[in-house]
Amino acid sequence: MDDPARALQTCVAPDDDSLLIGADFWPRSVDRRTPGLPFWPEGSFGTIALRLSKARDEFQMMADAAAGALKPGGTLYLFGGNGEGIVSAGRRLGEVFAAVETVQTKFHSRVFAARGPRARLKAALSDWRSTFGFHVGEANFSHVTYPGVFASGRLDEGTRFLLETVPAVGGKVLDFACGSGPIAEVLTRRHGDVRFTLSDIDAVSLVAAKENVPGVPAYQIARLRDLPADKFDAIVSNPPIHQGVEQSFAALRDFLATAPDYLATGGEVFLVGQRTVPVAKLAGALKLRKHASDDAFTVWALHR
Ligand SMILES: C[S@@+](CC[C@H](N)C(=O)[O-])C[C@H]1O[C@@H](n2cnc3c(N)ncnc32)[C@H](O)[C@@H]1O
Repeated sequence: MDDPARALQTCVAPDDDSLLIGADFWPRSVDRRTPGLPFWPEGSFGTIALRLSKARDEFQMMADAAAGALKPGGTLYLFGGNGEGIVSAGRRLGEVFAAVETVQTKFHSRVFAARGPRARLKAALSDWRSTFGFHVGEANFSHVTYPGVFASGRLDEGTRFLLETVPAVGGKVLDFACGSGPIAEVLTRRHGDVRFTLSDIDAVSLVAAKENVPGVPAYQIARLRDLPADKFDAIVSNPPIHQGVEQSFAALRDFLATAPDYLATGGEVFLVGQRTVPVAKLAGALKLRKHASDDAFTVWALHR
């Protein structure tokens, strides 16, 4: 099996002047109570180890930022699994660094060492900001996003189905796992009296969400129970069903177990998932009904 972290350990011993970035080490996701960062800590480092990320644009952003954080003469190590496309990532690293060499090929993985960052790096998060347009029904939206933010510069089809079928919501509404905030953006425009709260695990997603839905409270949390106590008239979500590349319903199960504590009397949860997601098995104490479905997606309504 690919074991890139082990391959890295054979080349680099972390010390006080090193920084490890990426996947489990990439500090943009909140870890229990330790908030993730929209970018890594300020400073410069003699050694940086960068875990290859899934999305190509996210890798490009991280490579540029890492290059910008290297001390003169410093080395960037890029490590990843053969099955993850590490070889072609090494070629792209050559666009950012003058010298790139392979220093390890064990454990179905590869480690590159790169030195001599080229000029003209995009080394700040704002350099990677982009916008795309989408429409839901007659309404058009311009939406801010960043590399690695769901759903890679387009409106996700599941989110679209939720937005096309969800009934009118009003009062206090939570969007759990909001990503860049398309659900709140659309429903705020549709229902002027709605007051959204946003939450997501990912710091960069929340930077985008705050731009798309200005002025709303936004929390970086991995579990609903970490949200300050509150009661919502509705909770809407296109919830995470993956951990890394693996399908996982753990976060959804935990969310549904906690949702009753955050629902006001008469409040409902509306969530969208692929038809194959076993929401009935994960619903815990919540009662559920199928609100809408098509060939690909189901919108579930759940209440206490
Ligand atoms: C399917 S996407 C939906 C994003 C957004 N609502 C949309 O429709 O575009 C799921 C989101 O869950 C976030 N996420 C992943 N694991 C999470 C967790 N344990 N707690 C909260 N959010 C999580 C991801 O960062 C991602 O933004």
